[in-house]
Amino acid sequence: MTYIFGHRGSAGTHPENTMISFQEAERAGADGIELDVQLTKDGEVIIIHDEKVDRTTDGKGYINNLLLKDIKKLNAGAKFQNGQFKAEIPTLNEFFEWFKGTNLFVNIEFKTKSISNYELEEKTVAMVKKNKLEERVIFSSFNHYSLVYCYRLAPEIETAPLYAEGLFMPWIYAQSIRAKGIHPNYRVIPDELITLSQNHGIKVRPYTVNQDEDIKRFLNCNTHAIITDFPKKAKELKTM
Ligand code: G3P
Repeated sequence: MTYIFGHRGSAGTHPENTMISFQEAERAGADGIELDVQLTKDGEVIIIHDEKVDRTTDGKGYINNLLLKDIKKLNAGAKFQNGQFKAEIPTLNEFFEWFKGTNLFVNIEFKTKSISNYELEEKTVAMVKKNKLEERVIFSSFNHYSLVYCYRLAPEIETAPLYAEGLFMPWIYAQSIRAKGIHPNYRVIPDELITLSQNHGIKVRPYTVNQDEDIKRFLNCNTHAIITDFPKKAKELKTM
């Protein structure tokens, strides 16, 4: 069985990384949600993909230069489909308050560049533990040092490296950094490596799988999960 993870919620139909997008993914029957976290200037963990607020909101500037109170005034729906949705940038705490009442999994992606400061990882791990959500959380990042650090803090929480270039034996790499999954770009993971990785106990969740033929390909080769902007469509293709 292949699980469906809604990328940034249901980013194909609703403003990415907002509560309305997460709620839409749940309504669509997704099994999990993928979201991105970053730190504000005053050290709050918020859910947003880019380093700046410019692309998705009506504001400007780097997140690490903005206070939460100012970020909360922005409309995270401003740049999506002519601004027909209005939404705040959620904090991770706000997300967890809603998430605790669902049966979903969540894949939290750390948008970290630094390898000398792990405040974002430390705060996120503490929040997951405080809410006792260890079994429903997967940490991912293109910064694999982040994941090794999280494993040291909380080995019970699954980690999965993101990567966009082909790996020869991805399961060996995953095992070497104590990861239990891999999140490859969907273009760089051939069917045989999905099977081999999963036979070695490594869960494969390619991103971002949006076209019908690609969704069908991963469903057919029993991929553990796919990460898609269109969870509703993926769910429908799965039940066909
Ligand atoms: O986690 C899957 C996907 O979100 C990784 O790429 O650039 O959207 O963070 P990106």
